[in-house]
Amino acid sequence: MAILVLGGAGYIGSHTVYELIDKGADVVVVDNLETGHIEAVHPKARFYKGDIRSRGFIDSVFENEEIHAVIHFAANSLVGESMVDPLKYYDNNVYGTKVLLESMIAHDVKKIVFSSTAATYGEPENIPILEDDKTCPTNAYGETKLAMEKMMKWTDIAHGLKYVALRYFNACGAHESGCIGEAHSPETHLIPLILQVPLGQREFISIFGDDYDTKDGTCIRDYIHVTDLAQAHILAVKYLLDGGESNTFNLGNGVGFTVKEVIETAKKATGLDIAQRITPRRAGDPARLIASSDKAKEVLGWNPQHADLEEIISSAWKWHSTHPHGFKKQEA
Ligand code: UFG
Repeated sequence: MAILVLGGAGYIGSHTVYELIDKGADVVVVDNLETGHIEAVHPKARFYKGDIRSRGFIDSVFENEEIHAVIHFAANSLVGESMVDPLKYYDNNVYGTKVLLESMIAHDVKKIVFSSTAATYGEPENIPILEDDKTCPTNAYGETKLAMEKMMKWTDIAHGLKYVALRYFNACGAHESGCIGEAHSPETHLIPLILQVPLGQREFISIFGDDYDTKDGTCIRDYIHVTDLAQAHILAVKYLLDGGESNTFNLGNGVGFTVKEVIETAKKATGLDIAQRITPRRAGDPARLIASSDKAKEVLGWNPQHADLEEIISSAWKWHSTHPHGFKKQEA
């Protein structure tokens, strides 16, 4: 019996596959390699290149393999892009998930863990954010993830499909081996962008606004190590295979850091100076996003191991400094 990881060549997907294989699981990876990297696929996983929007393709995977649970990362995930091309997000994230669920029901595979996001909440009413707080996304990306959650809910009611939605806060860091890590193109996330400065690829890091109502005026986020996220997926699969009901969990450390604090910590982690410049606010950024992850700790037994921000950034630095162009051998 195998676990099917959709989007297993992407950032969080590839780290989850490494942890699953480390625990002795049999893993099948599907990825269309549009944003994922073949080099990130664990050599012990069986890999199928294809798109979840193709019913024939996804059916063939369920027919070739004996799958008992699915972990679904296959989605577009850039907030800014979702605002200029929302239909791309509805097509890949919502329609893709619809095709996947139809195929799962047809093949009697009824356990799925999938990536959701803190972006489902929008501007939070309370800090820390709880799973039953109001969901009111402020961007198309978050809206499509919320639509995926609701699609699962109704599919459970109609067909008994059991799901776990994992709402990530700010994923960061890299595998301890240093052989896989974050490699987005274009890169939009704070920590890899900061590290481009000491790598000589960027003159300075822009701080998007220093007039927020926070201790130093810059935005606060809850940074969570990608390996800790990976462990939560494995626990969620176990929870479903043990008969758990459909459920939703936040995944964060419950501690917020300002943009300036992240830059200062990156200076310590790299031992290098990092030039910074204040620039205007980025549209749609909430001032503060911090998770309450108590539910994941209580129900799943999740216990994040890499809460220290300097350790998280050091792991990212190990990856970026040895792979300055990501998975590419040299600059394209
Ligand atoms: N930031 C900067 N300068 C930069 C890049 C980012 O100051 O060059 C700031 C942002 O304004 C924000 C913080 O750094 O305050 C973190 O920004 P990221 O882009 O790294 O992450 P976000 O918090 O915007 O987004 C993350 C995930 C999304 C998810 C969202 C949930 O990457 O997928 O959290 O709100 F949707």
